[in-house]
Amino acid sequence: MWSSCCVLLSLVVSSCSSRDFSSPPLLNISLDEPPEARWAPILEVFDINFLNKAMAEIIDSTVPRWVHEAVAPLVVALEKYIPQPYAGEIRGLAQHAGASVSDIILLNFAYEISAFCTSIVAQDTEGNVYHGRNLDYPKAVLRNLTVNIHFIKQGEVVYRGTSFAGYVGLWTGQSPKRFTISGNQRGKDRWWNWWKNVVSALLLKSSPVSWLIRETLEGAADFQDAVMRLSKTPIITGVYYIVAGVHPGEGVVITRDRKGPADIWPLDPLNGGWYRVETNSDHWLPSPGGGHRRRDEAVKALNATGQKNINLATLYQVLSVYPVCNGITVYTTTMTAAIPGEYNTLVRPQGCHWSE
Ligand SMILES: *[C@@H]1O[C@H](CO)[C@@H](O)[C@H](O)[C@H]1NC(C)=O
Ligand SMILES: *[C@@H]1O[C@H](CO)[C@@H](O)[C@H](O)[C@H]1NC(C)=O
Ligand SMILES: *[C@@H]1O[C@H](CO)[C@@H](O)[C@H](O)[C@H]1NC(C)=O
Repeated sequence: MWSSCCVLLSLVVSSCSSRDFSSPPLLNISLDEPPEARWAPILEVFDINFLNKAMAEIIDSTVPRWVHEAVAPLVVALEKYIPQPYAGEIRGLAQHAGASVSDIILLNFAYEISAFCTSIVAQDTEGNVYHGRNLDYPKAVLRNLTVNIHFIKQGEVVYRGTSFAGYVGLWTGQSPKRFTISGNQRGKDRWWNWWKNVVSALLLKSSPVSWLIRETLEGAADFQDAVMRLSKTPIITGVYYIVAGVHPGEGVVITRDRKGPADIWPLDPLNGGWYRVETNSDHWLPSPGGGHRRRDEAVKALNATGQKNINLATLYQVLSVYPVCNGITVYTTTMTAAIPGEYNTLVRPQGCHWSE
C-alpha cells in the first residue's frame, strides 16, 4: 500500500517506489535579468498548454467565473499599483505563458486564501536547528505545478525556495547560511473579503505575505533581521511565519496580524521547548481537534522521536504521519540554513491517507 509508506521509518521510506513521492523540477531564475525576462525558463520545465489549463483551474476554483470576468478590467487597472519586481515578473509570465496579465495577477493572489499547512522548527541536543513544512492545498493540480527555484545573482544562489509555476511569491525558502522561512495561513477569507483586502493592500502598499517572505530571503542579513522584518512589515492578511536560523535557539513562530505581530513564540531549548509546531490556529488556543488534529499528532510524533534523534530525516517522518500529512498535502520541504544544499522538497503525488 502506498499510503503506509507515509507512516513508516526512513529506511522504509527510502525504499518506497518512485510513485510515492517525487522531486519537483528545478528552475534557475537569474535576478540579473530584467523582471520581464527572468521567468522565461519556466517554458523549459512546463508545457504551455498544461500551464494554461492548470492556471485557469486554480483561478476558477477561487473566484466565481462571473466575478472573474467582471473584475478583469479592474485587475488591469491595479497593475500600476503592483511594485517591482513583481509587476514586471507578472507581465513577463503572462507573455511567456500566453495568458492575460489580469489572469496572472488573479492567480498570484488566489493562493493567498486557502493554504493549510504544518510547519515545525526543532533543535537537536547539539544545537543544530531544523525546519520542515507540509503545504496542504485542496487542488491536486498544484502537485504538477510545484517547482524548486534557485534565485541567482552573478552565478551564486542568493536564495532558494519552493513555489508553483506562475506564482512569483514564496511560501517556503532558504537564505543560505542565514535562515529559513515558511508561511502558514491564518484565518480563512471568503473571496469577497479576499478581494477587498487585495485592493486595499495594493493601494496601501502592504505586501502579500508571500512577497514579504521573498523580500526577507533576499534582503535580511541574519535570523534576527529576518524575524524583525517578518514581524513588523504591514501585510495583506494575517499569517504565521515560521523562521529558523543557524545558531542554537534560533527558531520562532511569528503570529501576524496585518499591521504587526500578535505573538512571538521562540524555541526555548533550556526549558524543554526544543520544538515548535504551527498549523493553522493560534498556538495559545486549544488544538482545534476533530479533523484538524495535525498539531496534536505532530507533537506526539516529535515527543516519540526525541530531541537527540531529531534531524532532517526524522523530521520528514514526523511530517509524514497522518493527518500531519493528509489527503490534500501537496509537498513536504525539510531544510536547515546551516547546510544550504540540504534543502529537500518532495511532492506527495497522492497525499497521505489514514491506514492501519
Ligand atoms: C541551474 O544552475 C546550476 C548551477 O548554478 C546548474 O548546475 C543546473 O544545471 C541549472 N539547472 C537548470 C535546470 O537550469
Ligand atoms: C500530474 O501529472 C501526472 C503525471 O504526469 C498525471 O498522471 C496526473 O494526471 C497529473 N495530475 C493533474 C492533477 O494534472
Ligand atoms: C509532549 O511532551 C511534552 C513535554 O514532555 C508534554 O508536556 C506533552 O504533553 C507531550 N505531548 C504529547 C501529545 O505527547
